[in-house]
Amino acid sequence: MKENISLFFSGLSVFMTVVFISFSTPADRGSGELSEAALAAMGLVGTSTSACVGEEPVSNLRELMERRFNPSMSRISFALHHSDAEERDRLTMISAEADRIVACVEKGKSHQPEITSSKMAAYRRHLVGMQGSALAMSDSAQEGDMRSTQHWFLHLKQSCIGCHKDVRPPLGTALLGDLP
Ligand code: HEC
Repeated sequence: MKENISLFFSGLSVFMTVVFISFSTPADRGSGELSEAALAAMGLVGTSTSACVGEEPVSNLRELMERRFNPSMSRISFALHHSDAEERDRLTMISAEADRIVACVEKGKSHQPEITSSKMAAYRRHLVGMQGSALAMSDSAQEGDMRSTQHWFLHLKQSCIGCHKDVRPPLGTALLGDLP
């Protein structure tokens, strides 16, 4: 029964992905034709942009961090600072990645971190802050506002750094240090 339900939902999410991709091209947003090549180069083709999906499965918080948040942040960082693609395409990709982060934060809410209960309040606070920044970044990118997108990216990065500083040992700072 449980399997049936989860099968139903994974089927549904594939269906929703197809619906989403067919209806949410930038053309619909009035910003011209989608550059498939640019998105392919960024590794976005074939992935849902509105769910917490990725190549590898995620079954705990650490995997969520390593397999979803970290790669998303690297891709956004690349699109912001290094990509040669047109700004319109970079913003489309950034908005999709930010939406993925928003969806993945929901997963973070259900994964229990291995921290003392006194740190739970700070953990939840940072998680909600992170979701808000990702949402604002997605909106800014959809509006074509690069400056505001960069602004929210900084806030988002601060959530990563702040939460790691407050609720976990400083091991992650080395990895986060790699983010430009
Ligand atoms: C709400 C708190 C919180 C936020 C926000 C957060 N993390 Fe984490 N992160 C953790 C915790 C707790 C762990 C340790 C998980 C474990 O090992 O079980 C962790 C671990 C990691 C790891 C695994 C390697 C390591 O350093 O231990 C990476 C990579 C990581 N986070 C990246 C990120 C990135 C990138 C962001 C921002 C987009 C982010 N995190 C935001 C709490 C957070």
